[in-house]
Amino acid sequence: LLAGPDGRPLTGRTAVVTAGPTFEPIDPVRGLTNRSSGKQGYAVAAALAELGAQVTLISGPVALDAPVGVTRVWVEAATEMKAAVDAALPADIAVMSAAVADWRVDGVASGKIKKAPGGPPSLALIENPDILAGVSAPGPRRPRLVVGFAAETSDLAANARAKLSRKGCDWIVGNDVSDEVFGSDGNAVTLFTRNGDEPWPRQSKTQVARKLAQRIADHFKA
Ligand code: CTP
Ligand code: CA
Repeated sequence: LLAGPDGRPLTGRTAVVTAGPTFEPIDPVRGLTNRSSGKQGYAVAAALAELGAQVTLISGPVALDAPVGVTRVWVEAATEMKAAVDAALPADIAVMSAAVADWRVDGVASGKIKKAPGGPPSLALIENPDILAGVSAPGPRRPRLVVGFAAETSDLAANARAKLSRKGCDWIVGNDVSDEVFGSDGNAVTLFTRNGDEPWPRQSKTQVARKLAQRIADHFKA
C-alpha cells in the first residue's frame, strides 16, 4: 500500500504531537515555565496533517494558531499534558516535541503567596512524569512509531543516543541549542535512529517538520 485512498501517504493514520512549554503552578498567579515557542511541534503537526494524518496536538501555552485540520488540546502542567496524551491514544504515530518541565512545585499554594518578614518562600520541587518514556513503554497501546526531541547544549550525539535507549522511543530529533533555536525559525537537527545518525542541514522549522513527516510516511510505507 503506497498511499491512502486520497493519494496522501498518511491518510488513515492517527498521530499525537506534543508542543510548547508546560506551565507548573506555584500559586494561583505564578508558575514555572520555559522558553519553548512551540513552533517546531506545531510545524510537525501541520506537516503530518498535510500528508493526510489525523493529528491531535497537545499544546502547552503558546501564541500560535492551530494548524489547519489539526485538533488542538490546550494543557498547562506536565501532569495535564500526560493525561491528554493518554486520552489521545491509541495512535499510530507519537511525536513528543514539548519542552516538558522536569519538575513541578510540591504543594501548590491555594492562595497567592504574600511577601512576609521572614524572607522569600522556598519551593520544594518534585520530578514530573516522563511522558515520552510512558508512551514508549511496550504494550498494546504503544504507537508503532514514537519520536522524541532532545535539545542539548553539549555532546549532542552522546546525549541523544542515551535518551533513545533510556526512553525507549524509536527516533530522537536532536538539536544543538548552544546557538539560537528557541523562538527562531531556523533549526539544525540530527535524526538519531537505531540505524545511525543523520545530520540534516540547517533549514527552517517548517522544512525540518516536512522532512520528518516524509520520513515518518516512508517508515509506514516500508
Ligand atoms: N519529555 C517528556 N516528559 C518529560 C521530559 C521530557 O515527554 N517529563 C520528552 C520531551 O518532550 C522530549 C524528550 O523527552 O521529546 C527529551 O526531553 P529532554 O528534556 O531533552 O530529556 P530529559 O529526560 O528531561 O533530560 P534532561 O535532563 O536533558 O532535561
Ligand atoms: Ca528535560
